[in-house]
Amino acid sequence: MEVNLASADTENIRDEMLRRRTFAIISHPDAGKTTLTEKLLLFGGAIQLAGTVKARKSARHATSDWMAIEKARGISVASSVMQFVYGEHVINLLDTPGHQDFSEDTYRVLTAVDSALMVIDSGNGVEAQTIKLLEVCRLRDTPIITFMNKFDRESRDPMELLDEVESVLGIQCAPITWPIGMGKRFRGVYHLLRDEVLVFAPGQESREQEFERIQGIDHPELLRRFPDEMAELAEQVELVRGASHPFDLQAFLAGRQTPVFFGSAINNFGVRELLAALIDWAPPPQPREASGRMVEPAENAFSGFVFKIQANMDPQHRDRVAFLRVCSGHFTRGMRIRHLRLGRDIQVHNPITFLAQERELVEEAYAGDIIGLHNHGSIQIGDSFSQGEALQFTGIPYFAPELFRRVRLKNPLKAKQLQKGLQQLAEEGATQVFRRLQGGDPILGAVGSLQFDVVAERLRGEYAVEAVFEPVTVQTARWIEAEDDKTLADFTRKHEEQLAEDAGGRLAYLAPSRVNLDLTMERWPKVRFHATREHA
Ligand code: G4P
Repeated sequence: MEVNLASADTENIRDEMLRRRTFAIISHPDAGKTTLTEKLLLFGGAIQLAGTVKARKSARHATSDWMAIEKARGISVASSVMQFVYGEHVINLLDTPGHQDFSEDTYRVLTAVDSALMVIDSGNGVEAQTIKLLEVCRLRDTPIITFMNKFDRESRDPMELLDEVESVLGIQCAPITWPIGMGKRFRGVYHLLRDEVLVFAPGQESREQEFERIQGIDHPELLRRFPDEMAELAEQVELVRGASHPFDLQAFLAGRQTPVFFGSAINNFGVRELLAALIDWAPPPQPREASGRMVEPAENAFSGFVFKIQANMDPQHRDRVAFLRVCSGHFTRGMRIRHLRLGRDIQVHNPITFLAQERELVEEAYAGDIIGLHNHGSIQIGDSFSQGEALQFTGIPYFAPELFRRVRLKNPLKAKQLQKGLQQLAEEGATQVFRRLQGGDPILGAVGSLQFDVVAERLRGEYAVEAVFEPVTVQTARWIEAEDDKTLADFTRKHEEQLAEDAGGRLAYLAPSRVNLDLTMERWPKVRFHATREHA
């Protein structure tokens, strides 16, 4: 009897896992991420949340005022993970904050997804932030679906856009749809695999409205309505079929090829096709490496890791929410799970879940889902939780900061509080802290400047420390390892001035310039300079 129950549960865990898709949207600011997110939520029937996305966007412009930051962050606790049901599937959409709140969080969110949706403004092509985010996806060969947005406007030539993605991002493009005209003459898209034209009509924003579909590129109705465009399309399609890569599911899953769709997010046009690609092609939760073995998502025992920590709305309560990605098993409310780093069991009474509809389902979670754990600073980024076997997940990285500030105390008597505050904020992942081997003021590192504002405000609010942040001549940092102890000792002696320890006690080289870094790397071939390092 017991055996049957166990196998029923195993089957259920497997089915639930296979229903899930967990992804993030990556894009340069203004490419249309917010708009597309809202449309995706519409399809999932989570209309009430769509407003939240918009509200958050307007809130994030005010960065100088701490309450505004808190508010923006508070709202984003609710909207930084959006879960919705679409047909048979459960979709987890993870927000990667853009704009000035671009931070290390953005990078780490990408370690918690199984695929990504890249949105490109077709008028601008590939932009800076997209390049950065794609590099991070590369670290794990994350499969990527591409959406060429805003074809209702004058855009770049579609072939040229594909060429740019291939050459700048180094990923093969397989067009799935092809635009018919653009701007005022945008007529729709042709589905290359289905031989079907989806006719564009502006303003069809609600999910009930389906766009007109006409089967066959030489359908007389199409020729009658769009005589010029269809002749042009036939030519282009021949060219596209000859010159571009046919879709190859394996190459997509390996992160080598991206299926490309054209459309207009604001008109909800082409969004359904994206969802279909996500469901049909994007992978369900993938196995993850932990403690030297691969953890399969359908394993019975629960496991997961924390990829993000966010301060809560109320600065009076130092409550933080840790975002945990479930990697295997079945989570239920009230469950006891082991916090590996501390070697302690915790019971999770009131996890935060993010399901937009069907509130009654929030009691449980499966691989691919994200749950929020309340904590008062005991949880760090990279922490693993599991049932039974101790599984420490790997691959949650710190990224070499690109911005640096020296922290100077206004009141020197507060040195202890400053140290404590910086240590905790570093463990939480809000910033990185470096201490030079030769002493002096601590140096903060970040990838987005908002991180400094947040640290300054939180030091003041939570640790009663007034600190001044000053420019410092550090341009980039690399974590250091050497082939042998002697090399490391020689290197340390020679470059003590540039060396520092981070909050985890790792040795880092703080380079005053890129040129200096390149030269130093050239001179020390036996020293390894890492641009990322793992947590814990
Ligand atoms: P983001 O989150 O990536 O930063 O971009 P967001 O969705 O906010 O879109 C940026 C701007 O581009 C918005 O205009 C939005 O309306 C517009 N947009 C998004 N998708 C499309 C599209 O398919 N076609 C056209 N023509 N425009 C699109 P805005 O004027 O900056 O903001 P708003 O006043 O419309 O909110």
